[in-house]
Amino acid sequence: MKTPVAIIGAGPAGLLLAHLLQRAGIESVVLESRGRDYVERRVRAGVLEHGGAQLLREAGVGDRLDREGLEHRGIYLRFNGEIHHIDFKRLANRGIFVYGQQEVVKDLIAARLASGGAILFEAEARRIDDRDAHHMSVLFTQGGDEQRLECDFIAACDGSHGIGRATMLSRNATGYEHIYPYAWLGILARTPPAADELVYAYHERGFALHSMRSPQVSRLYLQVRRDETLDGWPEERIWSELRLRLHEPSLDAGEILEIGVTPMSSYVMEPMQDGRLFLAGDSAHIVPPTGAKGMNLALADAATLAAGLIEWYGKHSSERLDRYTASCLQRVWRAEFFSAFMTQLLHRDELDGEFEHRLRLAQLKYVTSSRAASTSLAENYTGAATS
Ligand code: APR
Ligand code: PHB
Repeated sequence: MKTPVAIIGAGPAGLLLAHLLQRAGIESVVLESRGRDYVERRVRAGVLEHGGAQLLREAGVGDRLDREGLEHRGIYLRFNGEIHHIDFKRLANRGIFVYGQQEVVKDLIAARLASGGAILFEAEARRIDDRDAHHMSVLFTQGGDEQRLECDFIAACDGSHGIGRATMLSRNATGYEHIYPYAWLGILARTPPAADELVYAYHERGFALHSMRSPQVSRLYLQVRRDETLDGWPEERIWSELRLRLHEPSLDAGEILEIGVTPMSSYVMEPMQDGRLFLAGDSAHIVPPTGAKGMNLALADAATLAAGLIEWYGKHSSERLDRYTASCLQRVWRAEFFSAFMTQLLHRDELDGEFEHRLRLAQLKYVTSSRAASTSLAENYTGAATS
């Protein structure tokens, strides 16, 4: 099998890349180890920055986002019995969209299949062979058969546990990592949202987040210990802890549609390319979800890589491709800083005492009362700081 660009992974990064290339007349094949149903149902993040939404619109896949996405002008910060609205529209002149990552994935898969592009589901990439620019290939298995996909370029968009990251690490790439001592227990529930916009709550018992997917469905998170399992969290305990930390005593305990625990870490790989192998999205970097940046970074990498490949095929110039790592890392490190900042601002570490608690309250007070500090939060959250 032969294609110009082999793309490993059908998440937001791999799918947007395939779609942008297709629109420019460049063929590719997407290899995805899971089935279509699985990737379309996997519940993930849900916030699109103005820039992420714009990328989808420009790529011609923004119609459903514009119809069904929830446009928010800001977020709420709750702490110490107070609630404060940070008005992004006023402070940074742009808002955000709440739209589930699996909806973005569904839209991109539909567009890809409608245009006749190839996605091989249940096709697992096993090895990247890229030592020689003239003999690039990905070895993969599908239905028990081993096959080789020959190509000019390989885009590893295969997430943090894929072979892209492992391949780069076996060479000279460096991974910079920070592990947080906590995780998020997340539920998707058939409960009308208790607020009109996202509520980030800092409580002495730990962080909680109230997000949503529709007027009937809420997405809610609780900070838990990193090593915690769901065994210790029967539904009643989840709801009572959410009500307490979010200050929403009447939050309705609706049917839980999905539940999971995600440990939190920050990770950046440098460089994000080696020869004709390029990493995009989670394969190259991870952010803790508190800054709502994961999906946006994945889409931005894909757009940057697509522009480089389009220039290479159109003008035979590698200028943009050569600058790929540098272009991405500036945005990535800014998002890493903001995500770590939001995480440390809003989470309670088990080792923290009263002193750290009071420091956090002082910082929250500042962020919500100083125009400069709240503008900084708004610029970073909406992506205005990086575009
Ligand atoms: N072969 C083929 N596919 C693979 C392989 C492999 N060896 N390993 C992983 N995959 C697939 C996974 O099944 C997944 O569908 O690669 C895809 C990677 O997609 P995502 O994890 O969604 O990564 P990305 O596109 O970078 O999007 C990042 O996802 O985790 C969230 O918060 C994160 O919002 C961010 C987004
Ligand atoms: C979500 O809706 O899933 C969500 C929202 C904001 C975050 C993280 C996740 O910071």
